[in-house]
Amino acid sequence: MTIIIDTDPGIDDAIAILYALRHPAMDVAAITTVAGNIGLSVTTRNAGRICALAGSDTPVHSGAAAPLGVKARPETGIHGNDGLGGVDFPEPTQAPRSTDAVAAMEALLEAHPPRTIDLHCLGPLTNLALLLQRAPKAAARIRRVIAMGGAVDEPGNVGPKSEFNIAHDPHAAAEVLAAGLDFTLIPLDATRQFRADKIYIAELRASGHTPAIASAALIDAYFAATNGAESRPLHDPCVPLLAQNPQHFRIVTRDLAVELNTGALVPGPHRIKVAMGLDAPALRAELLRGLCA
Ligand code: BDR
Ligand code: CA
Repeated sequence: MTIIIDTDPGIDDAIAILYALRHPAMDVAAITTVAGNIGLSVTTRNAGRICALAGSDTPVHSGAAAPLGVKARPETGIHGNDGLGGVDFPEPTQAPRSTDAVAAMEALLEAHPPRTIDLHCLGPLTNLALLLQRAPKAAARIRRVIAMGGAVDEPGNVGPKSEFNIAHDPHAAAEVLAAGLDFTLIPLDATRQFRADKIYIAELRASGHTPAIASAALIDAYFAATNGAESRPLHDPCVPLLAQNPQHFRIVTRDLAVELNTGALVPGPHRIKVAMGLDAPALRAELLRGLCA
């Protein structure tokens, strides 16, 4: 499976990327970055740092520095000033390959046979919306999009009904939902069920494997940003986990749209696949296994 990871790393993005880079069945053709959890220069540097830790030479392309219609809202409270919770990652071993993520996506989609590349979206959907605007023929060659974002029946995390990735760039999300892609959304309804606690952190650390130890440090940092929580949700790892382990997810179809003022998901005309449940113990075991590869 060839994938492009579009991301704003980000603590949970980093864990998702480490899992994907080390998975033998996933060929990560590129990592494209977007402003979201923190500004674009930091998310781009972090993508390179994550590749360096994983021993991967996957090309990194930087993309959109700001959302399509609203001002950027960095979330340094959760992901720290460096976007990775202050965890000690190596410096990138190579510079970003380009500063035009959309052109890189287009080139990869045109170079591969139609419907052989999946897009894994871990941040705001700005880059994908720009691809739809600038290169619709290339976008039509995407096999499948899996995106973390939104809150369907659950409360949001940045507003009563709004989740960060969609609320950060609601206009982009609205364009993506309307595009008729094979689109699977993993909202907070599912990701809040996939939680890490102190015991899981200890298991990751005890494994002795570098990606697992780094993930333990990342989740520790995530805990440090919250008071009194016994567990923390691992949102973005659900994306590559769903790609490889669909049997552990409950997927339904829903008719949805994006409310542009708030970024909330509301009933609407776009029929998409939505993960509403998951088998957390099975997925925790799979993530641990994958981070020890
Ligand atoms: C999403 O927002 C970001 O803070 C996380 O990385 C995740 O992609 C969760 O709402
Ligand atoms: Ca993210």
